[in-house]
Amino acid sequence: MNILFYDAKKYDIDSFNKELKNFPDIKIDYLEADLTPQTAQLSGEYEAVCAFVNSQINSEVIRRLGEQGVKLLLMRCAGFNNVDLEEAKRRNITVLRVPGYSPEAVAEHALSLALAVNRRIHKGYIKVRENNFSLNGLMGYNFYGKTAGIIGTGKIGAAMCRICKGIGMNVVAYDVYQNPTLDFVKYMPLDDVLKTADLISLHCPLTEENYHMINTRTISMMKDNTVLVNTSRGALVNTEDLIKGIRSRKFHGVGLDVYEEETSNVFENRQDDILETSVTARLLSFPNVIVTSHQGYFTDEALTAGISLLRERRGLCPSTPQAAIASLDPALFTSLAVIKRLFRSNRSFVMFYFLVVTLLESDHAP
Ligand SMILES: NC(=O)c1ccc[n+]([C@@H]2O[C@H](COP(=O)([O-])OP(=O)(O)OC[C@H]3O[C@@H](n4cnc5c(N)ncnc54)[C@H](O)[C@@H]3O)[C@@H](O)[C@H]2O)c1
Repeated sequence: MNILFYDAKKYDIDSFNKELKNFPDIKIDYLEADLTPQTAQLSGEYEAVCAFVNSQINSEVIRRLGEQGVKLLLMRCAGFNNVDLEEAKRRNITVLRVPGYSPEAVAEHALSLALAVNRRIHKGYIKVRENNFSLNGLMGYNFYGKTAGIIGTGKIGAAMCRICKGIGMNVVAYDVYQNPTLDFVKYMPLDDVLKTADLISLHCPLTEENYHMINTRTISMMKDNTVLVNTSRGALVNTEDLIKGIRSRKFHGVGLDVYEEETSNVFENRQDDILETSVTARLLSFPNVIVTSHQGYFTDEALTAGISLLRERRGLCPSTPQAAIASLDPALFTSLAVIKRLFRSNRSFVMFYFLVVTLLESDHAP
C-alpha cells in the first residue's frame, strides 16, 4: 500500500520510518505541504493519504482525493471536526482516526497551563531573565481546596479529574454521559459547573451542539477570577466573547492550547509573517493569558505508545478484515467493502492492520 503523508514534520518522519521497517508492504512518501484542494491533486498514485489536525479536509479536498482514486483517509489525530465525513461517505473514502493515545499527556498539559497562568510563571520567567526580581503582578491563588469544573469526562477529562483531585481540589463535572469510574466527581448541569468552578477545563469534542459553548452568556455565569483552560478545540470558545470577558477582568487567567484562529499557525514558524487577523495578537497581549500551539499531546510517551501497542497486538491480529475493523473504532468506517478491496493478499492486510492500529491507538493524536 502506498500512503501519501501530508504536513510531515521531522518527528513524524523519524517515528513513522522507524516503524515502517517492520512493514515492507507499506510505502510512505512524505510531503511538507499540508493537504489542500491543490495538494490533493498529488495523491494520484496513492491508495491512502495521511493528514493532521490542522488540515481543512472539506468537500472540495475530499472530492479531489476521490477523483485521484484515494480510498483511505488516515487522520493522525483524535478530533475529526475538520473532516467532511458526509462527503467522504459519498465518495467511498474510508476515514480512520486515533481514538486513543495518552490522555494523561493532554490532561497534564491542561494543568500546566492552569498552574502557569494562575501563578504567572510566564511573566516571572521573563522578569527574572531581565534581572527584575520584583513580585508585582505575579500574585496567584491556591488551587488546593478550590473547585475544578471539568467539561467532558471521557479519557482526557477523566485524567484531568484525577489530577485535580490529586492536588486537593473538589471536582465537579458536566458531560452528556457520566463516567462511572469517577466516583469522587460531582456531576452537575453545565450552568451549575460554570457557576461553581474556580478552574474550568474543557475536554469535550467540538460538535454542532457545543460550538461556542463558552460565550458572553456562559462567561457571565462564571465566578470572578476563574481560570479557564481549553486544550480541546478552539471553536468551543467564542474568542471575541472571551476577549471581552478578559477585558472586563472576569478571568484570573486563561490558558489556551487551542483557539479558533490556530489553523494556519499550528506547528509553523511564522516569526517573519505579518499575521492576517488580530485575534492571536490580541490574546497574546493580555498578561493573564498563555497560549501554546496545540502541544497537549506532544510527549514522548504519547508518540511512542504506538510501538508498544503494536507489539501487544501482534499476537492478537484478527484473521479477517471484518474482525480487524470490528476491533477498531467502527464509528468512522464509511465503507467496509472499500477497505476489503484494498488488500490483495492476507499478508498485506496483516501489515496494514498493524499500521492502522499504530495510527489509531497511539501515535500523534491531538
Ligand atoms: N490539545 C491536544 O493536543 C489534544 C489531543 C487530543 C485530543 N484533544 C481534544 O480533546 C478532546 C477530548 O478527547 P478525549 O480523548 O477525552 O475524548 P473522549 O471521546 O474520550 O471524551 C469526550 C467526552 O466528551 C463528552 N461530550 C461530548 N459532547 C459533549 C458536550 N456537548 N458537553 C459535554 N461533554 C460532551 C463525551 O460524552 C465524552 O465523555 C478531543 O475531542 C480533542 O478535541 C486535544
